[in-house]
Amino acid sequence: MKNKIEQLNEKLALSRLGGGESRIEKQHQKGKLTARERIHFLLDEGSFEEIGALVTHRTKDFAMEKQIFYGDGVVTGYGTIGGRLVYVFAQDFTVFGGSLSETHAEKICKIMDLSMKVGAPLIGLNDSGGARIQEGVRSLGGYADIFYKNVMASGVVPQISAIMGPCAGGAVYSPAMTDFTIMVEGTSYMFVTGPNVVKTVTNEEVTSEELGGASTHSTKSGVTHLIAANDIDCIEKIKGLLSYMPQNCEDKPTQLPYEIGEETREVLDSIIPENAHQPYDIRDVIKGISDEDSFLEIHENYAENIVVGFTRLAGRSIGIVANQPMSLAGVLDVDSSKKAARFVRFCDCFNIPLLVLVDVPGFLPGTDQEWNGIIVNGAKLLYALSEATVPRISVITRKAYGGAYDVMNSKHIGADMNFAWPSAEIAVMGAKGASEIIFRKEIQAADDPAAKLAEKEAEYAEKFANPYSATERGFVDEVILPRDTRRKLIKAFAMLENKVAKIPKKKHGNIPL
Ligand code: HXC
Repeated sequence: MKNKIEQLNEKLALSRLGGGESRIEKQHQKGKLTARERIHFLLDEGSFEEIGALVTHRTKDFAMEKQIFYGDGVVTGYGTIGGRLVYVFAQDFTVFGGSLSETHAEKICKIMDLSMKVGAPLIGLNDSGGARIQEGVRSLGGYADIFYKNVMASGVVPQISAIMGPCAGGAVYSPAMTDFTIMVEGTSYMFVTGPNVVKTVTNEEVTSEELGGASTHSTKSGVTHLIAANDIDCIEKIKGLLSYMPQNCEDKPTQLPYEIGEETREVLDSIIPENAHQPYDIRDVIKGISDEDSFLEIHENYAENIVVGFTRLAGRSIGIVANQPMSLAGVLDVDSSKKAARFVRFCDCFNIPLLVLVDVPGFLPGTDQEWNGIIVNGAKLLYALSEATVPRISVITRKAYGGAYDVMNSKHIGADMNFAWPSAEIAVMGAKGASEIIFRKEIQAADDPAAKLAEKEAEYAEKFANPYSATERGFVDEVILPRDTRRKLIKAFAMLENKVAKIPKKKHGNIPL
């Protein structure tokens, strides 16, 4: 007769086996790690404490009472990453395809509640066939319970979703409501309706990979913020991302030790081309300003005309939003506005100061943009920046034209410090377009209209294609040499460290969604 300790150990051993060795092997053959292996690589060694290892489903339909697996397809608990507490769930595809039952959902909800009460990040490793088909509406209810808690936790603790296998149907809405999604290339996909339904309804032939694979969502839809080459890379990316974040909305991001030294960066002096129409890579500016190898780009291949990501300045975690002259000359359009707005709101939720690098010729013209709502989408970025109460600094490297000047963290919408490089041009529009409009009659009447236009263009450029008019009015605080930018920013962010800004009391604002 086994004693109680032996019985418990036996059950625990079974729970660690998931759906059995052959299914674990199948998971490996697909190039995927198991739920427990993923947790093992994610957390500091020996730090994982499991919660609910012996939970089983309660379904008696379809002879399910004969198929009991301890843990019920999800491993949940807490542990540490670099010494910091995190809560984690990892769906176990070896048990009913990781499908979500009522009890599976209860386990996830339990750690979500703990994560909110304690104030520590929540990490979800998703690998699931969706709603447990045998459970019907109880499973759908379980999903909704998780969605609701995702929303309640939003802005309280950072939530990161890794998609490491299938994620289909309504199940996609939990990751979609978390702060960051990372997809593994080749083994993960996300879609609301799969290829078969697509074929039936629209007659389109599409593979799972084309419809909702990592590369689709990182380039076309922007659903995923990061992609990973494999499970290990995905886990490393989760850790990297987390390193820039605080534990919760009342905490500050970890400040890495840093001793101020020679902070002049001469390399920044030679990035802006002589010709104002020539592109350059804004990442070179970011690299020149940041601590070594500290830039983590988000949404790298989506809406490439704006670059967003986390970096460090003298050990301080900073969110960067930067126009990218290499892509569409750095214009703002629908997708780039949405991308940047979402990033700004994340940083503002979690006390991460913002640095905005401005080189923007304006908003992208055209029917495509207007009909897709550039008005309301551009307004998202304007709204998000206006509302952000974290320290906010801008550096205008070159163009700041038209409405985009206002939107890109201008002084007028609450930026704390605004710097401009000598190459900055701050005006309603470029010199040629402006001259053609305001000097039209004069140019038409001239003996040599082309020469007149060139003369007027030079006159306009002399007046506005520089940062001084804005600086005289205090819209720019200081014109600085590129090489001094890092030094100035380090000091300014330190100066703003204890900034307190309040927005008027309200239930919540009405961001133009
Ligand atoms: C119960 C499931 C399951 C599910 C998979 N399994 N999905 N069991 N409910 N949703 C089981 C399979 O029966 C199988 O069990 C085992 O998990 C592994 O599945 P395979 O099909 O062998 O794996 P694979 O070939 O890799 O295919 C994976 C898959 C496929 C593409 C995910 O299993 C699949 O299409 N599953 C159904 C997906 C689905 O329609 N889910 C409902 C979506 S709607 P055995 O014992 O045979 O090994 C939804 C709504 C959510 O989720 C709504 C929220 C509001």
